[in-house]
Amino acid sequence: MEYKILGNTKERLSKIGIGTWQLGKNTKENEKAISLAISKDVNFIDTAEIYGTEKFVGRVITGKPGLFIATKVWATHFRYESVIKACERSLKNLGIKQIDLYQLHWPNPGIDINKTMKAMEKLVYDGKIRYIGVSNFNEKELKNAQEAMSKYEIVSNQVEYNLIQRTPEINLMDYMKKQKITLLAYSPFAHGAIFKRKYNELIKSLNELGEKYNKTAGQMLLRWLIQKDIVIPLTKASNPKHMLENIAATNFNINQKDMHNIDNLTPKNSNFGLSRFKDLIKYYLLFRTLLRI
Ligand SMILES: NC(=O)c1ccc[n+]([C@@H]2O[C@H](COP(=O)([O-])OP(=O)(O)OC[C@H]3O[C@@H](n4cnc5c(N)ncnc54)[C@H](OP(=O)(O)O)[C@@H]3O)[C@@H](O)[C@H]2O)c1
Repeated sequence: MEYKILGNTKERLSKIGIGTWQLGKNTKENEKAISLAISKDVNFIDTAEIYGTEKFVGRVITGKPGLFIATKVWATHFRYESVIKACERSLKNLGIKQIDLYQLHWPNPGIDINKTMKAMEKLVYDGKIRYIGVSNFNEKELKNAQEAMSKYEIVSNQVEYNLIQRTPEINLMDYMKKQKITLLAYSPFAHGAIFKRKYNELIKSLNELGEKYNKTAGQMLLRWLIQKDIVIPLTKASNPKHMLENIAATNFNINQKDMHNIDNLTPKNSNFGLSRFKDLIKYYLLFRTLLRI
């Protein structure tokens, strides 16, 4: 397995992370897929309090040392005391003493970011978490969160990034590169949508480009992300066959010409994903927070 350094730290993360959103009911199959990834030296697993999969992850990682566990606090829990309590709950669910990466799941304009970040700093200071990350933050939100901290740095921002959702390329990636913040690219397959009929042509082109590397369209897609230096894709696969296929994207190289060819398969401002609803989610969160629902 090849590794990448997380943000401005010395932490080595496998070039692919395992996501655990919507794992479905077949826990045996999910467990098998994740254990398989761990046996292939994938060390990075991502969950969130809102996914309801922290206990499952806790079970799977028991007795497996050397893993890097990331989870997230949901946006309605961003008040100082709520962050601290949410972290305690996540530690209990996961059955661990320290969370490696604790992330703010979604920006919440209804809660003062200064107070939220103070709570995050306190959690590092108290040894409950090791690193602070954010998720779905734009450049301005990221800057504000950074400026709200006095002792520690933000090491990662988890955003949707794939061939049909390329908005991070507009400004965010350049800023993150300068700041040495890792981009954790969630939904590299657009939540599986990329394999649907609508994108047949795209998949066909990726398969053609993959022929000389003996790799599939999915592997080309993941590798295209991996070769962008600050990016680590976070994929979810409950099917062990998919998991193995995805892990094999960590051990080959796409040449520069083919990287450009893939770059040119979709427009740089493609925006088909979850982020389209980002503003709606923000207003929903603001509304809920103000009414304290
Ligand atoms: N921070 C956030 O707000 C946020 C939002 C969304 C997601 N995430 C994180 O990112 C992770 C990944 O994103 P995601 O779950 O949306 O989806 P994804 O990885 O883009 O796609 C998962 C889907 O693709 C299928 N798949 C996986 N590998 C495949 C392959 N090699 N060939 C064909 N199909 C394949 C999976 O099927 P099977 O399951 O049948 O294998 C599943 O249906 C999440 O689990 C979560 O941890 C974070």
